[in-house]
Amino acid sequence: MAAKTVFILNDREVRVALPAGTALVDFIRDDQRLTGTHVGCREGDCGACTVLLGTPGAQGLRYRAVASCLFPLADAAGCHVVTIEGLNPDGRSPSGLTPVQQAFVSEGASQCGFCTPGLVVSLTAFLLEDAGLNLDDAVTAIEGNICRCTGYTAIRRAVRRLLHEVGRLPQDPGERLPALIAAGVVPAYFAAIPVRLKELPAAVAGKSVRQPGDAVVMAGGTDLYVQRGPGLAGKELDLMSRREGFAAIWPEAERIFIGAAATVSDLMESRLLAAAFPPLAGFLRQVSATQVRNRATVGGNIVNASPIGDLSVILLALDAAIGLRRDAATRERKLSEFFLGYKKTDLQPGELAAWVSVPLCRDGILFHFEKVARRKRQDIASVNSAIGLEMDGERIAAAHVSAGGVAPVPLYLRAASAFLAGRQVSAETVREFIAVAGSETAPISDVRGAAVYKQALLGRLLFAHFLELFPGKLQAGDLP
Ligand SMILES: Cc1cc2nc3c(=O)[nH]c(=O)nc-3n(C[C@H](O)[C@H](O)[C@H](O)COP(=O)(O)OP(=O)(O)OC[C@H]3O[C@@H](n4cnc5c(N)ncnc54)[C@H](O)[C@@H]3O)c2cc1C
Ligand code: FES
Ligand code: FES
Repeated sequence: MAAKTVFILNDREVRVALPAGTALVDFIRDDQRLTGTHVGCREGDCGACTVLLGTPGAQGLRYRAVASCLFPLADAAGCHVVTIEGLNPDGRSPSGLTPVQQAFVSEGASQCGFCTPGLVVSLTAFLLEDAGLNLDDAVTAIEGNICRCTGYTAIRRAVRRLLHEVGRLPQDPGERLPALIAAGVVPAYFAAIPVRLKELPAAVAGKSVRQPGDAVVMAGGTDLYVQRGPGLAGKELDLMSRREGFAAIWPEAERIFIGAAATVSDLMESRLLAAAFPPLAGFLRQVSATQVRNRATVGGNIVNASPIGDLSVILLALDAAIGLRRDAATRERKLSEFFLGYKKTDLQPGELAAWVSVPLCRDGILFHFEKVARRKRQDIASVNSAIGLEMDGERIAAAHVSAGGVAPVPLYLRAASAFLAGRQVSAETVREFIAVAGSETAPISDVRGAAVYKQALLGRLLFAHFLELFPGKLQAGDLP
């Protein structure tokens, strides 16, 4: 008998005895018959299955948009899950629509309507959580929602209209929710959810779903569900989100530690990381789209060992170390030594990735990331690369350079990094550096491009690092 998972679905408490790995969307549609949540791709690509996930934490209840096709039912324990039906249960606005729905209707932003519930949920999450509420950020919030018939111009108009009509919302999270309830964006029952979640029975609100041992280690599930799909339904899960401290980000001994279960969104919102590496959050916007970023973790990105993993490549250039834990013992390895071969790592049976840590440099580092993919958003890279430079005046004191898509592993460019140390930046240095990097890589031809294309692309990305970091020192014509 599967352990019971208890959570609040829309305005009802549910106690579910289905297997832990059941995809949340299947429970919502097949069991609960809430069919406004659609299924387009089952791979996190289309956003049709987007639901709101409200998770209690130190900062109160936080709502995020997630893809319910990649979400294990057990991870809903103790949370508030909201489907499109839960956003407008009583048709309270004069037209019977919420302001988000109304903006879509007014601007003709929906035709067949297949994508519309997902878009409405994503925008509602944006209104609940975003600080600035500007048009660019609102568009970013729906980058993971694909529409095949309306066209994005009308959707963009709907977003603009919505922001205009909702007006300025309070920044303070305590004031934001009442304002959204008053505006009819979310229904009144939302106000009581934090208290109702606290009253859920603790034993079934998450703790009973931990099954270490033979269980499948699952963090965000964004990789696992795509690889193993329905095969996960009957499995016991060891949920990283339920492990104490695994999602924390903290400073210690001249380093920043990032818990393995921290998500891409956690990294983007971390003040600590923003202070140490100001451009990082901007680069992380290139990772997938909102629904996936809200779930995809650092540990999952590293352990799945994809040769084009963006976080792995970024962390290699930040000279990261990884903490590998079995029971109470943790051993540390350089991330550059962790990847052993295609999808092969130094993780031993029974070990978990517990954290990664990156050193802090007193004078800061120059950091840059480049990624080329077939689509600008919601796609993994053909080739990506990152660089971290410690400067001593005009001289490069230390360098860490990495690349993805040019070897069987996320590659630390050891020789190219060593080549840069001690040199001044010049066109000649950069040309030689690119040649050294080329000698360390061996891309293969696949659906993301021919080997010769990837090799040429890497050279361009390495050059772009210097163009961006040293404006005026190099010209496009200096490219080898
Ligand atoms: C639509 C879509 C777009 C994507 N776009 C990108 C992109 O732009 N860039 C990119 O880099 N990736 C992308 N990905 C891939 C994926 O989202 C990332 O690799 C993500 O970081 C994986 O993390 P996760 O927490 O979801 O991993 P999971 O799926 O939970 O786990 C992945 C693997 O790691 C293991 N694991 C997880 N955590 C631990 C741990 N702490 N200790 C030991 N083992 C662990 C699991 O057992 C599993 O084998 C995309 C995926 C999708 C579905
Ligand atoms: S069904 Fe396409 S993202 Fe879930
Ligand atoms: S309205 Fe048809 S897919 Fe968007």
